[in-house]
Amino acid sequence: MATRRFPKEFLWGGATAANQVEGGFKEGGKGISVSDCARHHLDIDVQDYKKQNEITSKDIEEALKTNDESLYPKRHGSDFYHHYKEDIKMFAEMGFKVYRMSIAWSRIFPNGDDKEPNEEGLEFYDNVFDECLKYGIEPLVTMSHYEPPINLTLNYDGWYSRELVGFFELYVKTICTRYKNKVKYWLTFNEVDSMIRHPYTTGGLVEDRFPNIKWEQVIFQAMHHQFVASALATKICHEIIPESSVGCMLTKLTYYPHTCKPKDVLQSQQDMRATYCYSDTQVFGEYPSYLLSKFKNNGIVIKKEYGDDTIMKEYPVDFVSFSYYMSSCSAASLEGLDVTDGNTITAVKNPYLPSSEWGWQIDPTGLRISMVDLCDRYRKPLFIVENGLGAKDEVAEDGTIDDQYRIDYFDVHFKAMLDAIEYDGVECLGYTSWGCIDLISESTKQMSKRYGFIYVDCDDYGKGTYKRIPKKSFYWYKKVIESNGEYLFKN
Ligand code: BG6
Repeated sequence: MATRRFPKEFLWGGATAANQVEGGFKEGGKGISVSDCARHHLDIDVQDYKKQNEITSKDIEEALKTNDESLYPKRHGSDFYHHYKEDIKMFAEMGFKVYRMSIAWSRIFPNGDDKEPNEEGLEFYDNVFDECLKYGIEPLVTMSHYEPPINLTLNYDGWYSRELVGFFELYVKTICTRYKNKVKYWLTFNEVDSMIRHPYTTGGLVEDRFPNIKWEQVIFQAMHHQFVASALATKICHEIIPESSVGCMLTKLTYYPHTCKPKDVLQSQQDMRATYCYSDTQVFGEYPSYLLSKFKNNGIVIKKEYGDDTIMKEYPVDFVSFSYYMSSCSAASLEGLDVTDGNTITAVKNPYLPSSEWGWQIDPTGLRISMVDLCDRYRKPLFIVENGLGAKDEVAEDGTIDDQYRIDYFDVHFKAMLDAIEYDGVECLGYTSWGCIDLISESTKQMSKRYGFIYVDCDDYGKGTYKRIPKKSFYWYKKVIESNGEYLFKN
């Protein structure tokens, strides 16, 4: 059999986000972000995603009164802020060609509405990018990954306010100008669709601040502002860095009909459309007709400004990036069916698939299906910017970490990814595994839900030495990258 490997230019790497990995939440002139005010509730039920993510004005008030980091884990993250040199060195040791990370908006504009940027924040990312480039690692930068400054929630009502488009524009101009010689690959908003599932972290929206407006109306208005801001960001990026490439980022939720009953098939089609409507908007530069029908049928009226439609149409994204962790089933009626957790959703259980400890259904074939679907739908290059297994890791007495389960997960996903590229003709620019170094979980705020090739000695309450330890998967991924995938077929 012929040797199988990935395309020569394939960008292998890993991904993190500032709000989950950086820590240093008040250092270097950084302002407080929405994520710094999100506490965990390990006493309730870590798997109850909704309870974990319901944030009220009172919760924010409480959060702002304290400097506590043990209940607010994103304040310490994995302390990348102080360890970035060591971490990037380890990424380089694995052979990373790309590192996906985000810039914390509140490090650059501490309050979001400041007139001048914070020089210390800008310098921090200069240092991070220089460190990457020193090892030949290409930075892939998300402009906004759950990091709006909290001031924008308290004084403007988050992304519901039109004013945020202007603030974001200034932020984008600032970072593109500053890093124009260092960063070529950009993503605008992480999982723009997540506004529906966690409006607080994505949009800085707090429901009790809108007593007289339908909540769905608030969410879609905020999303409209992000669509316009994303198109403007693409424009700015292209003007300042002509060779840049800008992507959208969607949560790839893949649904199968639970049975071949036409009503189940219809339900899965509806669920898929509910996932695609946001990337459709960002790729085709206009709201798809089925989303407009939803607005009409639900009485949602999007307030637009003159020029919004033109901007969205003229500046669609260059490539489509996505996260993929799992698939799920759709059924017209949930009666009598097993339901399980997933990536910020609950969904019908697929009897043919195993699940992670958090109930996410593991499905490598679903990755191939997703890649083919996205390729056929958009005819743009793809970039897999998140994928991985959240699991509890144990450090053995001799200090090693045997995470064979993670290797098994990646092994089958990488093979499925190569099948899509080699057999189905999908153009895929690269792959960055999520949480390449352990970080704080978004949905549960746990440290113990680990994704990394690199272990960070820190518990759910932030206690530990923060020492970095390569796991078994670290050495395995290094071999995969070194051989450009050939190693996958050697055992
Ligand atoms: C993605 C988010 O949806 O899923 C990440 O972009 C998040 O921020 C990742 O961390 C994994 O989810 P979780 O809840 O296990 O951290």
